[in-house]
Amino acid sequence: MSHADHHRRSLQDPETFWADAARALDWITPWRKVLGADAAGMPLWFEGAAANTCWNALDRHVAAGRGLQTALIFDSPVTGTKRRYTYSELTDLVARVAGMLTAFGVGKGDRVLIYMPVIPEAVAAMLACARIGAVHSVVFGGFAAHELASRIQDAGPKVLLTASCGIEPARIVPYKPAVDQALERAPSIVEACVVFQRPQAVAALTPGRDHDWNDAMAAAQPVPCVAVDANDPLYILYTSGTTGAPKGIVRPSGGHMVALLWAMQHIYNASPGEVFWACSDIGWAVGHSFAVYGPLLNGNATVFYEGKPVGTPDAGAFWRVIAEYDVRTFFVAPTAVRAIKREDPDGALMKPHDLSRLKAFFVAGERCDPPTAAWLAEKFPCPIVDHWWQTESGWPMAANPLGIERFPTKHGTVTKPVPGWDIRAVDAEGRDVAAGETGAIVARLPLPPGAATTLWNAPARYRAAYLDRYPGFYNTGDAGFIDADGYLSVMTRTDDVINVAGHRLSTGAIEEVVAAHPDIAECAVVGLDDELKGQVPLGLLVLKAGATNQNVIAEVVQRVREIMGAVVAFKTAVVVVRLPKTRSGKVLRGTIAKIANGAAYMAPATIEDAAALDEIAAALRQARIGRA
Ligand code: COA
Ligand code: AMP
Repeated sequence: MSHADHHRRSLQDPETFWADAARALDWITPWRKVLGADAAGMPLWFEGAAANTCWNALDRHVAAGRGLQTALIFDSPVTGTKRRYTYSELTDLVARVAGMLTAFGVGKGDRVLIYMPVIPEAVAAMLACARIGAVHSVVFGGFAAHELASRIQDAGPKVLLTASCGIEPARIVPYKPAVDQALERAPSIVEACVVFQRPQAVAALTPGRDHDWNDAMAAAQPVPCVAVDANDPLYILYTSGTTGAPKGIVRPSGGHMVALLWAMQHIYNASPGEVFWACSDIGWAVGHSFAVYGPLLNGNATVFYEGKPVGTPDAGAFWRVIAEYDVRTFFVAPTAVRAIKREDPDGALMKPHDLSRLKAFFVAGERCDPPTAAWLAEKFPCPIVDHWWQTESGWPMAANPLGIERFPTKHGTVTKPVPGWDIRAVDAEGRDVAAGETGAIVARLPLPPGAATTLWNAPARYRAAYLDRYPGFYNTGDAGFIDADGYLSVMTRTDDVINVAGHRLSTGAIEEVVAAHPDIAECAVVGLDDELKGQVPLGLLVLKAGATNQNVIAEVVQRVREIMGAVVAFKTAVVVVRLPKTRSGKVLRGTIAKIANGAAYMAPATIEDAAALDEIAAALRQARIGRA
């Protein structure tokens, strides 16, 4: 069947399409209805069904006689560790972590916060939650105490699982101080904190609250999988919205399994038994979907790599891992490829490694600029697939579906909408724009299985953020165009979200932290184009009358790093006299970004005083920032 046939069938008869896909998994209770709806009209895929994601990802393969097959490969150049887990070994580990959580009183529906680096215990922690029907919420280790505290406050976890430290190439990052600070700010939520001690930085434990992971595990008994309703949450994953408060994306457990298994087969073309490597931290959607759940549901071996594309030890690290473990499918953010290309433009560090068995090289997380895509295409004979998705969707919305049909590549595009997704580019009134014309990218409702249909504690915010703008459609927050061949190009965000090294950040959240500095009257943060990271945040600071602090820029930079985390990469700011605003007082962030990035701009008709734009351009030129 062609991609067009799959796509048509998925939209015309979604219930048959997804029921067929769901039969590949084990269900404890069959569904009453493939597609139902809740009281608010939101879709309930596989209504009435119950299953267990951990069973389907692990125990099912062991029961089928594949227990000795590799499930997880851990490769950590920063600690000099290499370790493999078979499906049987990982199942045993997960069953005991689940027993440990049960002993701490965690049960179905309870939240567990996971703040850990990319180590096997973190994968085990996620799957252990799935095993007992608890809801995990993983927080990226690059976030500091403030971000951790806001997620604890919102998710209300009973137990927090952490490690004593993460390891960056140049430094050890102790996690416990951030945990302690966050727990002070959000007291009496977390009942127990379990710390996996790493020898690089052993953490002090607070008696009564903190527990040593190994001690707790030694006392733990393995527990079996429980039945989880298909529409109960598997996890909450916080992502940036337009305000400082992160959005808790809720993943429905049943549809998620179905969509991921379907994607592993039809988009990634991964066969069970192969090694599949999505190089992402578990703190991101890619880490959840394609480092943990997708490959395990499909019976692949997944790679967990604790290192960087460059510097651990060099720009050949990825190629070494691909060759060493016979990786057949690789997936990484374009920013990592740019980092490698910058250090090894001719690919000399590829030469010592046999990369000929790689079947496909996928990129996503940010727009892949055509020169980077072309560089990859020149270096690799396999398909290079830029594909597009977001935390909310949980799996690709547009891709070259290698398991169905391979389309010719057009660099700069994400090929075609995936079955299940009716993707349109629309104008301000929600009408389809002509081929090649830029519009807001939306998806017609109902969204397919796996997509988030609510936000934790905030269903109204979900509607306001995604559904209200274009009735009948989900608003992705991206803008782009579909060409005459049906290829989609995703060009930019339509909101105040920026993408820094594949990490999605809210400029509003950074502004909140900057504005709290005692000398700042107001500020704006916009995305500045960056050759390596795609974008970096640029701050425009207006000082309070009479403020003479010469160190204000260094102080706000340090403040953002300490409060939000180093990963925000906020290093560039300039002091300005005022911010350009509309007459109603709205800061013209879009126009500021255009000025900073040297793009053509027009002063909007609603501007309060157009001279403010010239002042910004002059200040940026003087500070030699951007291309004003
Ligand atoms: N814990 C603690 N600190 C972390 C961290 C973590 N898990 N991850 C990153 N940081 C820190 C880094 O040490 C760095 O600190 P510094 O300012 O002291 O140098 C800062 O956060 C920024 O990190 P990073 O974004 O990794 O930038 P970099 O300049 O160190 O490296 C790249 C650049 C391109 C190599 C890197 O960004 C990269 O590998 N990106 C891939 C991103 C990715 O996989 N995204 C997945 C989403 S699809
Ligand atoms: P996240 O939710 O962190 O995965 O970020 C999702 C956002 O990253 C999307 O809404 C896009 O703005 C951007 N993005 C992800 N993949 C691509 C891609 N292949 N091309 C262009 N933008 C992308």
